[in-house]
Amino acid sequence: MSYLTRDNAAILYTDALLRTIRDLHGMVGNAVTKDRYIVVGTGSMQLINAVVHSLALLNSDRVSSVVAKAPYYSAYKVQTEYLDSPLFNFARDPARFTGNATGRGAQIELIASPNNPDAQIQEVPQNISEHVIYDHAYNWPHLSPITKASDHDIMLFTLSKITGHAGSRIGWAIIKDYNLYRTVQWYVVLNTLGVSHESQLRATQLIRTIIKSYSEGIRNEKGLFHYGREVLESRWATIQSILKNSSRFSLQELKPDYCFFFAQIVDPSPGHAWIRCNYEEDVDCAAVMLSAGIIGRKFGSGNRFVRLSLLKRRSHFEILTARLTKLVAQTSSST
Ligand SMILES: Cc1ncc(COP(=O)(O)O)c(C=O)c1O
Repeated sequence: MSYLTRDNAAILYTDALLRTIRDLHGMVGNAVTKDRYIVVGTGSMQLINAVVHSLALLNSDRVSSVVAKAPYYSAYKVQTEYLDSPLFNFARDPARFTGNATGRGAQIELIASPNNPDAQIQEVPQNISEHVIYDHAYNWPHLSPITKASDHDIMLFTLSKITGHAGSRIGWAIIKDYNLYRTVQWYVVLNTLGVSHESQLRATQLIRTIIKSYSEGIRNEKGLFHYGREVLESRWATIQSILKNSSRFSLQELKPDYCFFFAQIVDPSPGHAWIRCNYEEDVDCAAVMLSAGIIGRKFGSGNRFVRLSLLKRRSHFEILTARLTKLVAQTSSST
């Protein structure tokens, strides 16, 4: 097996994978792929940096600011700072520039929509003149209603949040601009000399299986997205009911919305619960959870908030809910 997928052609990805990715987006209706270039990466984690680096390289007359509005996926900051590039640095909050960029540093905004940790749909105003990377890791119908086909200049997707095969390390970037596409692809060549062919094969097979599960129509309730939505909707409802009368903890607000994929209004089914500790003395919300045996993560929003993942095995989710119920009950009986 060579580095390349075809003899005598510098092609890193199998045609089958690229085709199934386009077919999947076409079936789900969550992103435009027609006349767009696709770069596959070793997870979207590789592509986040590949795109940031490439944009900074294409603006290399000035140092670029990498920004994200809190709460944001923590890897944006950790990865950017760790790589310590002379081309860009992490500057946290986005400025909303419009018009000509001459005379100021370039800005590269990372925006997860739906967001990790709080599952909110995010979009920057259309007249913004800076680069925006839309990370659509969670923009799949089991995790968030599909309200339109996303058509941004740069969009990232990952297999990890579609089927849960995070260990296969397959992500992809959908890019409008040819120059940027070539630069991002070159990064993948220099960084990992392509993407595991075994993983490409597995991803192709998985995606084909999803598509096949809907071969009898989108309303097929045996399809993967129907199954995922049912599980996550019920998990969200469980977490809501545990916290609904608690004055100590509050949960992010999510509303039902119309989903074009399911052709109906659907209840929220986020991958994460984003919890605020309201009591003055609970200055470290993650520590409060840990004291009850619950592991949560902070996400660039100070210590008052903690994120609990709902994307876990059923038995682990049951342990989580049992511990959370106990913590809430303890609080109620001590007040
Ligand atoms: C918003 C977001 N983007 C990207 C990633 C990384 O995905 P991958 O497994 O493809 O590297 C994650 C993983 O949790 C994520 O939450």
